[in-house]
Parts: sequence; structure tokens; C-alpha cells
Amino acid sequence: MIAVTGATGDLGGRIAAGLAERGAPQRLLVRDPGRAPDLPGAEVHRIGGLRDAPALLAALKGAETLVLVPAADTADRVAQHRTAVNAAAAAGVRRVVYLSFLGAAPDATFLLAREHWMTEEHIRSTGQSWTFLRMSLFLDFVPSLVDDDDRIAGPAGEGRLAPVLRADVAEAAVAVALSGEHDGRIHDLTGPEAVTLADLADALARATGRPITFADQTEEEALAARADLGDEREVRNWVSSYLAIRDGSLDVVSDAVRELTGHDPVGVHAWLAGAARV
Ligand SMILES: NC(=O)c1ccc[n+]([C@@H]2O[C@H](COP(=O)([O-])OP(=O)(O)OC[C@H]3O[C@@H](n4cnc5c(N)ncnc54)[C@H](OP(=O)(O)O)[C@@H]3O)[C@@H](O)[C@H]2O)c1
Repeated sequence: MIAVTGATGDLGGRIAAGLAERGAPQRLLVRDPGRAPDLPGAEVHRIGGLRDAPALLAALKGAETLVLVPAADTADRVAQHRTAVNAAAAAGVRRVVYLSFLGAAPDATFLLAREHWMTEEHIRSTGQSWTFLRMSLFLDFVPSLVDDDDRIAGPAGEGRLAPVLRADVAEAAVAVALSGEHDGRIHDLTGPEAVTLADLADALARATGRPITFADQTEEEALAARADLGDEREVRNWVSSYLAIRDGSLDVVSDAVRELTGHDPVGVHAWLAGAARV
């Protein structure tokens, strides 16, 4: 029995669908059962979110593996993840597969990668088996970086990243969840090629016919430009993702998607050529 969080969302929904296709019994831990996917072999358990220790404990009893899709970014996200991991340990879940972020480390430039590291550390501390899947930026998230002025603007300079499609991440997560061979392993999940944000803007411009360009910014310019778009914590987190691109933290191309799924990850141009919507 595999328990999955985030199944009402994009990534978790794809993981749940992939597990169902493979005939795996699973339990979807969701906040709103009415929005849970209807999948063969899937039980739906309502939880009040990852803060809801009693419901998590009840829902995780009898599960062998927890696939933990990170919660939405909030100030208490790490505490929520700890609550979910503690519930899994208390329920006797043998292993946690955590969807972490590339370069998770206590001093990561991307501030959210520090939070992912804290979650990883907590999982290690419980004594459960674990696999960490450290995702690059989602390729299918890249179009949302384009602002109303058709710019991808941020302090990323000529730094590179290898964005990965959510579908590839999900397929890799399904392979890991169904295998007993990845305990104690960290897999970096990336696309097949490292590109700059200028390359991505150019590719989006060609795919859409819009004059999309990359506009480099200083950190100060980026913070000022976003000051009204979120609280200070959110804005700093957001800007730090560009700084992580600039300093090379995300300049990683890994073979893990191919090793886990048996096929190459989808790259920028292949995805844009086949994308139904951008
Ligand atoms: N690598 C990247 O580029 C990148 C980009 C964006 C996000 N992310 C991270 O990856 C995660 C999955 O991405 P996605 O595209 O699938 O996001 P999504 O479509 O917004 O789905 C998020 C899922 O997580 C659930 N969720 C959020 N907060 C929760 C909480 N506190 N307790 C329980 N469930 C919670 C949501 O439930 P509801 O339906 O009830 O809201 C939903 O099922 C995100 O949550 C975020 O942490 C990564």
C-alpha cells in the first residue's frame, strides 16, 4: 500500500495515475475528497492538510510507503512536512519517498532548497527508509515565469538550468515507489540539457510567436520589482530561485530520469513542439 499526498494537484495527480496504471494499491491523502482523482485501486482519505497529525496517522496505518509531495509554500511548510513524517513513522510506514529540490542543502542559494534539506534531515532522523527525488525547476512551470510584458525577468544572468517535465518526475517517482531498490538513495531529476533563461525565452518566443525575452536584473531590482507581489519572505524565496540559476546551483544534468523510467527526459524544444498549451 502506497500513500500519496498532493493527488488533487498536478504532480501528485500524475503520480497517483501512474501508480493506478501499474495496478498498485494506493491511498490518496487529500484535503478535498471531492477533487480527488477517481482511480482504480485508490482509496481516498480526507486529511485536514499536512498539519493534521491525527488524520494523517489514521490514514497512514497499514501503508508501506509514503510518497510525500511537498505542500504549497507557506512559512510553516517544514513543520507541516515534519508532522507528516512523524505520523508516517508512528503509523509504521517503512519508507518515505520525498519530492525534494535540486541542491537541497543548509546553505543553498535557493532558500526553498534549504527547507527541502530540513525536511530530508527530519526524514533521516526518524530511522525510516527514504529516497529523495531532488527535482529541478518544472519545465511546464517555465511559461508562468513570463510576465505581462512578455519578459522573463530576474537576476539569473547567464546561469543554466535543466528544467524537468512534471510528467517525467511523476514517472520516476512511480518507478521508485514500486521498487525496493532505492532506499537511501538521492536522485537528481533534471531535463536532458542545461539552458539559460535567455534560451528559454527564445524557445518560448518561437513556439508562441510572442516577443518573449529575458531581462536580467540585479538582486535589488528583482526585490523591488516584486515588492508588491507577496510578503517579504515569499519575494526573497522567489528572487533566490533566480540567484541559484545565476550562481550555477541548478546547472545539473542527470541521467536519473532515464535510469528510472527507461526513456530520456523531455527537453525544452521537444516539449514546446508537442505542448498543447504554453
Ligand atoms: N520544481 C518546481 O519547479 C516547482 C514549482 C512549483 C511548485 N513546486 C512544488 O511542488 C509541489 C507540487 O507541484 P504541483 O505543480 O503539483 O502543485 P499543485 O498542482 O498546486 O498541487 C499541490 C498539491 O499539494 C496539495 N497541498 C498543498 N499544500 C498542502 C498542505 N498544506 N497539506 C496538504 N496538501 C497540500 C494540494 O492540495 P489542494 O488541492 O487541496 O490545494 C495539491 O494536491 C508544490 O506544492 C510545490 O511545493 C515545485
